[in-house]
Amino acid sequence: MSLFITFEGSEGSGKSTQARLLYERLQAVGYPVILTREPGGTRISELIRRIVMDLRHTEMAPTTETLLFSAARAQLVSELIRPYLGTGGIVLCDRYADSTFAYQGYGLGRDLEELQAITTVATGGLQPDLTFYLDLPVEEGLRRKHLAKERAEQNAPGTTLSTPVEWNRLDARDLAYHQRVAAGFADLIRKEPQRWRIIPAEQPIPILAEQIAQEVAPLLKRVARLGEAL
Ligand SMILES: Nc1ncnc2c1ncn2[C@@H]1O[C@H](COP(=O)(O)OP(=O)(O)O)[C@@H](O)[C@H]1O
Ligand SMILES: [Mg+2]
Repeated sequence: MSLFITFEGSEGSGKSTQARLLYERLQAVGYPVILTREPGGTRISELIRRIVMDLRHTEMAPTTETLLFSAARAQLVSELIRPYLGTGGIVLCDRYADSTFAYQGYGLGRDLEELQAITTVATGGLQPDLTFYLDLPVEEGLRRKHLAKERAEQNAPGTTLSTPVEWNRLDARDLAYHQRVAAGFADLIRKEPQRWRIIPAEQPIPILAEQIAQEVAPLLKRVARLGEAL
């Protein structure tokens, strides 16, 4: 058995921070685990990421954007996620297909059934076992991102390498767009409540990490630790 866990939420909600902390925690106690991200995670997918996130690409059509995210996802699933799950390991992914529904569907107004069809092609139907939603007001997330960006630009202490600062084409969209995305996530959670865990993200980082670890704990019995007899 294996375990596939994804992190979703608005920009600056703490996904990358918490995904890394969970990764370090699982690795420290001997679980076979990898951490990856979307779009990206493989050589090809990271190249697609650069195209799709580039602030200069203002002319990108919504269909192009959707297909590029899906192409990056297809490569990540086939090259990394499926093979690793096949070995019985744990895959942590910073964003996954739910982001396509939230951002391109609810955010940009693309047809959800069409997105479902494209996503099924890209993933072969692979769905996470568990998805964390880091729930933070949109304004607060954007504030955190701006703050981190300023800190990085001033090269001030407090910016950690584990959370690289990136201000991309999607972050730069207006507040109404980000609010549609947040409402979209709420809708996705309503449709599939058993898969999602909502984590109120306006709490200190270690407290959130503890809550997340406690949600994961019951599922760990599916996965053998390294060196453990099966
Ligand atoms: N619980 C928290 N409280 C305050 N700041 C946080 C918290 N979690 C993360 N941050 C900071 O907010 C910024 C965005 O966090 P990050 O994990 O990169 O979010 P995301 O990956 O969801 O965009 C970073 O500078 C990070 O250090
Ligand atoms: Mg991030």
